[in-house]
Amino acid sequence: MPADSGIAEAASVLRTGGLVAFPTETVYGLGANALDARAVARVFEAKARPSFDPLITHLAEAAELEKLVGAVPAAVAALAERFWPGPLTLIVDRPAVIPPIVTSGLQTMAVRVPDHEAARALIAAAGVPVAAPSANRFGQLSPTRAEHVVRGLGAAVDVVLDGGSTRCGIESTIVDVRGDRPVVLRLGALPVEALEEAVGPVSVRSGSSGQPVAPGTLAAHYAPRTPLRLAAGAEPAAGEGARRGFLAFRERPSGDWAAVEVLSGRGDLTEAAARLFDALHRLDGTGVDEIVVEPVPDVGVGRAINDRLRRAAATWR
Ligand code: TXA
Ligand code: MG
Repeated sequence: MPADSGIAEAASVLRTGGLVAFPTETVYGLGANALDARAVARVFEAKARPSFDPLITHLAEAAELEKLVGAVPAAVAALAERFWPGPLTLIVDRPAVIPPIVTSGLQTMAVRVPDHEAARALIAAAGVPVAAPSANRFGQLSPTRAEHVVRGLGAAVDVVLDGGSTRCGIESTIVDVRGDRPVVLRLGALPVEALEEAVGPVSVRSGSSGQPVAPGTLAAHYAPRTPLRLAAGAEPAAGEGARRGFLAFRERPSGDWAAVEVLSGRGDLTEAAARLFDALHRLDGTGVDEIVVEPVPDVGVGRAINDRLRRAAATWR
């Protein structure tokens, strides 16, 4: 359904325990009523998502957080005030009304207010907080268009709201501000530099731990079906008989590639992030034997792009 005219019907589907995929400024989410444990269980099932991987709760506006959790810690309130609505997810204590399945049994809850009119209108019309992971099967490419959702999840979703391509194209940045120094649990659309300008130095949790607090941080994630690897310097011409695709940052590579996607001809990282998953979905659809990807400059949102590329490549190592 179109994202604007479908809101009322989609909200009623949410209220009655159904699943609604909806656009946000980052990627499409697969939403369920966060107060309804059975609806949330359907989200895990539809995504084939392991039960240890907690969901993000989405609110229509920042003022809803206080209603949900009671007193909002000052550090959370400060970042919410500065960056919501927007691609920042914050960690708070899980309130009793949120069933443990949402947080995979953790005592903490991830929460954000998306910067997308249809998303916020949907959540407001549903009148409940909405638990929503990215609307893809677990471990696969994230969806930045309604077609990606339909192709990946199909009949497992009751309604898909189509709002076109998402603006940021990469998931929210997840930050835990409960300790002395803020910790970035997942690099994302809000650059670390922007965070540090607001709160001073932050730590970035790198790699993956055995205890996946944020499984978007699992070593292997965000993967296409086609084997993918990071380019190693100048790529040799494609080998005999192999059909390979190349994901370039700004310049077309020389050599004999069966398919090439350029993320941003003008070298703009924001544009590159917005196009990243769509370009990977397209390369994945060409039937090449291998996708070779070129890392982008490791600054701003480029850090989150490289993070996704590394994890996608790790799936195939
Ligand atoms: O941009 C986004 O964040 C998108 C849109 C739909 O909002 N959502 C998204 O959700 O990326 P998902 O489920 O694909 O990724 C959520 C990440 C997971 O890595 C999960 O482990 C982490 O958030 N997470 C959820 N609750 C957490 C918690 N209490 N503590 C630490 N990490 C948490
Ligand atoms: Mg995801």
